[in-house]
Amino acid sequence: MTEKTAKLTLGDLEIDLPVLSPTVGPDVIDITKLYAQGKVFTYDPGFTSTAACDSTITFIDGGKGELLHRGYPIDQLAEKSHYLEVCYLLLYGELPSASELEEFEATITRHTMLHEQMVNFFRGFRRDAHPMAIMVGVVGAMSAFYHDSTDIADERQREIASHRLIAKMPTIAAWAYKYSIGQPFIYPRNDLDYASNFLRMCFSVPAEDYQVNPILSRAMDRIFTLHADHEQNASTSTVRLASSSGANPFACIAAGIACLWGPAHGGANQACLEMLEEIGTVDRIPEFIARAKDKNDPFRLMGFGHRVYKNFDPRAKVMKQSADEVLDLLGIEDNPKLQVAKELEKQALEDPYFAEKKLFPNVDFYSGIILEAMGFPTSMFTPIFALARTVGWISQWKEQISDPKLKIGRPRQLYMGENTREYIDIENR
Ligand code: ACO
Repeated sequence: MTEKTAKLTLGDLEIDLPVLSPTVGPDVIDITKLYAQGKVFTYDPGFTSTAACDSTITFIDGGKGELLHRGYPIDQLAEKSHYLEVCYLLLYGELPSASELEEFEATITRHTMLHEQMVNFFRGFRRDAHPMAIMVGVVGAMSAFYHDSTDIADERQREIASHRLIAKMPTIAAWAYKYSIGQPFIYPRNDLDYASNFLRMCFSVPAEDYQVNPILSRAMDRIFTLHADHEQNASTSTVRLASSSGANPFACIAAGIACLWGPAHGGANQACLEMLEEIGTVDRIPEFIARAKDKNDPFRLMGFGHRVYKNFDPRAKVMKQSADEVLDLLGIEDNPKLQVAKELEKQALEDPYFAEKKLFPNVDFYSGIILEAMGFPTSMFTPIFALARTVGWISQWKEQISDPKLKIGRPRQLYMGENTREYIDIENR
């Protein structure tokens, strides 16, 4: 078999660059020796054409609208599996046997409590703090509470940190919410599954019994499953970059949460629901579509478009179906936001602007409607995304740390600033 190479001509210099072939997906030109050979860098802000690592976890074919975790399609996982099984799959590479799953679930369940001292840490925040601000702080602070699992060179400590993060994230997110509404923190319960436990910690009060509705718990679990991992997106790449320096896992995940908060990434579901609220009625949709198309208006249709999916987002399909089920169960037949969402989707998909730019609803277009119907305020949408994505971040972190080729991430730049100049004394400026 002949090895593929790419030829780069730089003036008189010809450089052969190895071409690597993945199991699926486009070939990758290996430029690791380019600077040594040609004294040039490549330029790719936004990483639109750059693979920053090799990975065996998640694969996306944006053209086909395909998302695979360890080879398994997301729609099959959303239908047949559940979140903790998907967590196991992402972390360990294979679907668990019945006994492996039982043991994993028991381990996660027994790590859901937070160090009691952390209660004081929560109480230090303002009541009106955004729950994402609390999550960035509290998850970062875990390195101060769980230092017995911060030695990244120790494989067992890495595993314990992974379990702790997956297990404690629902408690942290629920407590951030409880704190913001002035209600007492609700402690986790070991007889409940992962999603039910989270719903109870968010919505139960000590004054009365709380029964978790199994359909809502299933919908919650599905939202977690659909957000579990998504290849080398902005927050995952942030986690990888932070971890490349050898930073501890809690600090790295806190960095991922900070990145996810932005409206172009995880903050989109909150922004999308706020947009549907602002549109208000179906008759105002054309006005907002016109604004989204206007180059002089910064407004974008939130929940539309994706860096990788250029046909459809397979998660959006499942999410739309879940939205119908949840609203049906709750007897919310004519939710105005759902009506606006459905009509907006229809009109946008019929509009040549969106078709030409390959802009389709993404996972966030419908998730906000479900979460709102469940009783979550918009400020909790991104924390729920962060909770669900933790396993993806942790799996990618674990993969990177175990890679013997690990190097500190250190991008280069195209410098466009001043060349060397003499310092000017203040009286002469
Ligand atoms: N509404 C209107 N126009 C849009 C939208 C949108 N939502 N998204 C992209 N465009 C247009 C851009 O103006 C641009 O037009 P141009 O070529 O005339 O300049 C073109 O489509 C390409 O857009 P880019 O921003 O270059 O595409 P990119 O891949 O960088 O951005 C992104 C992807 C950030 C998701 C973008 O589509 C967006 O801002 N969408 C809205 C926010 C959103 O829903 N984010 C959630 C992403 S999914 C997730 O994180 C889970």
